[in-house]
Amino acid sequence: MRIGVLTGGGDCPGLDAVIRSVVRRGNSEYGYEVIGYRDGWKGPMEGDWMPLGFEQVHGILTRGGTILGSSRTNPVKVDGGIEQIRASLEKDGVDGLIAIGGEDTLGVARHLNDAGIKVIGVPKTIDNDLDATDYTFGFDTAVNIAMDAIDRLRTTAESHHRVMILEVMGRHAGWIAFHSGMAGGADVILIPERDFDIEEVCGYVDKCFENGYAAVICCAEGAKPIGGFPEVPGEQETDAFGHARLGGVAHWLEAEIADRTGRDARATVLGHIQRGGTPTAFDRVLATRLGLHAIKAAHEGDWGKMTALRSTEIEMVPLEDAVAELKTVPPELYAEAEVFFG
Ligand code: F6P
Repeated sequence: MRIGVLTGGGDCPGLDAVIRSVVRRGNSEYGYEVIGYRDGWKGPMEGDWMPLGFEQVHGILTRGGTILGSSRTNPVKVDGGIEQIRASLEKDGVDGLIAIGGEDTLGVARHLNDAGIKVIGVPKTIDNDLDATDYTFGFDTAVNIAMDAIDRLRTTAESHHRVMILEVMGRHAGWIAFHSGMAGGADVILIPERDFDIEEVCGYVDKCFENGYAAVICCAEGAKPIGGFPEVPGEQETDAFGHARLGGVAHWLEAEIADRTGRDARATVLGHIQRGGTPTAFDRVLATRLGLHAIKAAHEGDWGKMTALRSTEIEMVPLEDAVAELKTVPPELYAEAEVFFG
């Protein structure tokens, strides 16, 4: 059997660990040949691949990023895109695909499965917003990086009696902001799931200073004030999956808070630092186990499914469940963080 592997969408720490375990188990236990398609769905569309064996995956467990490269190419949006992939797989002698990705990549995988192409999904995203799995790898690493940033902003905030605002990733789900904010003791956490009242935020800021400490705010890039932001003129840039490029809420808050409270405020946008570098132990282990189960599922002919972490077990769930709903921060969980606001 010949298996193709690809990594699609935004990269995250742990992708290489999945590739390694697919190859190691595939080669040694099942005697399969594994090839890696380059740059997400672009690889199988263009027949661009590299062989994957022990030599290629040796030493990659601890690395961030992906040795295969990634892209946000969307074959569903390209005329005949799915058929192009089918033709490549046939030409390359590939019996089935393992697609490692988030909501968008797995959405394409579901389309391929519907078209009768053998595919298995492995969930990844620093956003942790896939409903069918308890956690995605990459998330724990991102949370630890953001928590470290909050710790560092705290000391400089105290020295200068300033308001520090940290913007973290999370378009539709505020998991990174919620977890890193709680772990770092942020004085306000703002998430996309709950529009914020800027007056209330300023009230929390004032309360912090009245109690004798500086204020640190952790906000997700998708957080917005009640009523939304004033219209930005011109067209917003979007990717092949229709996502707008976000970012800017921290700077908006910096100006508003300074204006409304008269206090010195500074914004920090953490950006892609959250997605780079080496994975945490949790992410390495999770990614390794997901890879092992993905190639096992291929061996057992369990196509059209995604590996999922359920409690401590890895289970196979249908691809359509994987992309059916976005996992967002529930209000009762957010309320637990609110106890520490101000
Ligand atoms: O989907 C993962 C993610 O990191 C989001 O949190 C973020 O909004 C987006 O990717 C950034 O995408 P890009 O790297 O294409 O700018």
